[in-house]
Amino acid sequence: MKQDTVLVTGGMGFIGRRLIARLAQRPDIKSVVALDNFHPQVHGEKPAKSIEGAIVEEGSVSDRAFFEGVLERHDPDLIFHLAAETGTGQSYHEISRYCDTNINGTAYLIEGLRKLPDRARRLVLASSRAVYGEGAYKSSLGEIFTPKPRLSETMSKGIFDLYDSVGEAATPVATPEGITLRPSSIYASTKLMQEYICVQGLDNTRIQPVILRFQNVYGPGQSSRNPYTGVLSIFGQQILDGKILNIYEDGEIVRDFVYVDDIVEALMLAAVAGSVDSEPINLGSGISTTIRYAAECLLTELGASKENLRISGDFRPGDVRFALADNTRARTLLGYEPKVSLETGIAQLARHIKSERTQR
Ligand SMILES: NC(=O)c1ccc[n+]([C@@H]2O[C@H](COP(=O)([O-])OP(=O)(O)OC[C@H]3O[C@@H](n4cnc5c(N)ncnc54)[C@H](O)[C@@H]3O)[C@@H](O)[C@H]2O)c1
Repeated sequence: MKQDTVLVTGGMGFIGRRLIARLAQRPDIKSVVALDNFHPQVHGEKPAKSIEGAIVEEGSVSDRAFFEGVLERHDPDLIFHLAAETGTGQSYHEISRYCDTNINGTAYLIEGLRKLPDRARRLVLASSRAVYGEGAYKSSLGEIFTPKPRLSETMSKGIFDLYDSVGEAATPVATPEGITLRPSSIYASTKLMQEYICVQGLDNTRIQPVILRFQNVYGPGQSSRNPYTGVLSIFGQQILDGKILNIYEDGEIVRDFVYVDDIVEALMLAAVAGSVDSEPINLGSGISTTIRYAAECLLTELGASKENLRISGDFRPGDVRFALADNTRARTLLGYEPKVSLETGIAQLARHIKSERTQR
């Protein structure tokens, strides 16, 4: 399959920009197009609207005429669909906005692609581990199951862990793709719809969908303006402002933090891998880390005391307790092997946050 022209929707975002820099290193790619609406929540009011190595098309994926126009003009061989509204908590209050961008935007993409000349193409979707909800747990009887989302009523009593059907403590394990899905926010539900629309909408076409479910991606370049995403970037700003970090629940929330360059490498692999099908593929570091530990590493890297945090017992509806990817499919199908340790990644992030501050 030729890959002369590549379209990256959401190409001016955190992962998109890093991906475009990587695509620019591939001499066989003739043209890269970044489609983005420069969402003010992500980019602020006066963003730079160009990027080396790509043509920028400014507009929204939820503007059907614009999106179809971009597809017609550039006729891409390879599409990375990254544009999305991305905040879990915010999605409860902005339901139609999340649906417009994430669901309708993906529908317009698929319908637009189907109108292009019939030839082999590939669509790589940036989906999310959010589709799992709480993810895989082992019950006291040894069965693997996905618990129902936690209730605010229970969490307000300080009960954060999950229990099996007989009321015994359940043990979290790495989540494989085949587990029962229980999206626990509007954001998560829209990401799952994106997956279904891509796979069902491209059935019987020569366009191969590749569905990737990212864990918590972090690293230099993540928006620190957006209060709804990117916990480590937000913590970084708070540390430099001399604030005490508010660590939710009992400090034991676990995430699979995966460094942005590992995700970009996986996207590049997904673009060329010969053995993919349309079943989803997890992408994480495969390592579980408490938010508290990640916060302590960042405090240390930014020269603050490890004690500058407070375990508050606060919680947010839709937050899951434990996230960890089972990367077996990514390893087998893509040859994916995450390389950047949390400590190295956090050091890179800290350097970036500090240099951004000094440039202000
Ligand atoms: N960063 C993570 O931890 C993570 C985890 C799981 C999944 N993902 C997925 O990866 C993708 C990229 O995430 P990111 O972290 O780079 O986010 P980001 O917010 O930095 O980038 C998203 C980009 O999409 C653009 N955008 C938003 N709405 C748009 C619209 N209507 N039309 C055109 N462009 C629009 C924004 O301006 C932004 O540049 C998203 O689909 C997200 O759901 C990210």
